[in-house]
Amino acid sequence: MSPLNFPSYPIPQGVRQWVEKIYHLCQPQRIHWCDGSQAEFDFLSAQLVQSGTFIPLNPDKRPNSYLARSHPSDVARVEDRTFICCEHPEDGGSTNNWFHPVEMQKILDQLFHGCMQGRTLYVIPFAMGPLGSPYTRYGVEFSDSPYVVVNMKYMTRMGQEVYAYLTDATDFVPCIHSVGVPLAEGEKDTPWPCNDTKYIVHFPEKKQIWSYGSGYGGNALLGKKCFALRIASTLGRKEGWLAEHMLILGVTSPEGKKYHFAGAFPSACGKTNFSMLVPPSDFAGWKITTLGDDIAWLYIDAQGRLSAINPEAGYFGVAPGTNQSTNPNCMLSLRENVIFTNVALTTEGDVWWEGMSPTPPKECIDWQGNPWTPDCGRKAAHPNARFTVAAGNNPSLDEQWEQAVPIDGIIFGGRRSTTIPLVTQTLSWNEGVYWALTMGSETTAAAMGTPGIVRRDPFAMLPFLGYNIKDYLQHWLAIGQILASKQTQPLIFGVNWFRRDEKGQFLWPGFSENMRAIKWMIDRIDHQVEGQLTPLGVSPKYSEIQWGAQALLSANVFENLMAINKAEWDQELDLHKTFLKQISSSPLPTISGIFTQLEERLGALG
Ligand code: OXD
Ligand code: MN
Repeated sequence: MSPLNFPSYPIPQGVRQWVEKIYHLCQPQRIHWCDGSQAEFDFLSAQLVQSGTFIPLNPDKRPNSYLARSHPSDVARVEDRTFICCEHPEDGGSTNNWFHPVEMQKILDQLFHGCMQGRTLYVIPFAMGPLGSPYTRYGVEFSDSPYVVVNMKYMTRMGQEVYAYLTDATDFVPCIHSVGVPLAEGEKDTPWPCNDTKYIVHFPEKKQIWSYGSGYGGNALLGKKCFALRIASTLGRKEGWLAEHMLILGVTSPEGKKYHFAGAFPSACGKTNFSMLVPPSDFAGWKITTLGDDIAWLYIDAQGRLSAINPEAGYFGVAPGTNQSTNPNCMLSLRENVIFTNVALTTEGDVWWEGMSPTPPKECIDWQGNPWTPDCGRKAAHPNARFTVAAGNNPSLDEQWEQAVPIDGIIFGGRRSTTIPLVTQTLSWNEGVYWALTMGSETTAAAMGTPGIVRRDPFAMLPFLGYNIKDYLQHWLAIGQILASKQTQPLIFGVNWFRRDEKGQFLWPGFSENMRAIKWMIDRIDHQVEGQLTPLGVSPKYSEIQWGAQALLSANVFENLMAINKAEWDQELDLHKTFLKQISSSPLPTISGIFTQLEERLGALG
């Protein structure tokens, strides 16, 4: 029998060739062809329990759910180890770690040589998007991590039925993944094998992803950031569409009119919360539904409108801070069939994380497996602890979530404690592009960085863009022109839920109250409110926001929340100038033009 033990169902030639290649390079002990079945999930979960990677949670509290604890060194995406390997450095651009593809392949061939010894190679066929949809792209991940297989089942459409859609050798993206820890004969595995050496490598020209050394999240679940953003953005550039770090939500009015928004927010700015928002009680009859919480692929559809589809099939969300009031739909999504990673374990065999309940448990086991009490001075859950869950668990899932939907408004929002008002409609598509380009956010745990420092995160795509940001800007401007010619441009809004007063208190409660900003956006889309012109765009008058019977904010507080402060903007524009120079040594005509106009408008503030 061939050591490749091909399954009885047909495997496309291109996949067979890859399996042969990886088998010879990585030398796994055996091969498991993933069929995506529940039986396979159960079998692998049991195996993960046996190897100590998974702890089964109490089935009375969290049926069919597991906790994994990663190695303490493998807890987040590793942006400084993420590479774009295209032929010309110019095509990678100023925001990417570029490396020559041939030189990188040499490094990878050495690293991957024998790297799966003593392990199983899992062949994981998956689709980004619904099977058979014209928008869908296919991939096959070759991984030595069973944890990756079970996560991919929730996060993608994964299983043997994918093979029927792979018609030739080139129409899937090979995603090669190893934790980088070969096992000698008889050597015992650790619960979370990983290697200090890490490489997350993208070859946009040959459409391949190679990832070595990490088992965590976006480093290892290669359909997500690596494929659906970095590689897909390069496909979109060539083919006239956009792969974006955006949620997609539906809003239905009491009269039954449906609107769709796509929203780009940097990592850990509450995208999952926003996509599952429950409107406040004074919004009787309004309904928010989730189409996606992290990634949107945007196309110009047959009617010439900008339409969005979510290529993922599940959520890999940040757990800390999630609770019954910040995101009740998410808490309901997490009732059963969940994989938790790096949260705490309670004495009852359930999970806990900071912010999950007002009072912490008296004791629990922290994310590293050590006894924890509230006064011990350590976090119980890692700040980047995650849940993996299928979209079908979400009670607010939009019934159209597997379709492309027309976008009425695009929202860009960073986490800024000063400077940026709550909500602004940009003056045009191009001004929206400028807003998105210069968007900044205070850093958090999803990416390694110093918390609290503002980093520019253009389009929330800084870590996810597969090509030169200058070309990306051109692409956005060009799409805007096509939409303008069809008179279908959606409005673009900038938001900031995180502004604080001089005492450091949040000026805006956020979460479900964000509905009030959405309602104003809808009123702008429907020409129901005129707003007021500011140097940044059009902003709401106090009277244009639905405040509810209790009048959530006074006019004074609202004024502070919306203030455009001259001193702050002088500094902000300096930072824009520096940033624009960083992304391009020569001025970008449209962008420079907008900068100058913005400077003039803000200068007139006096
Ligand atoms: C994510 C991220 O995991 O953006 O979605 O980091
Ligand atoms: Mn994300």
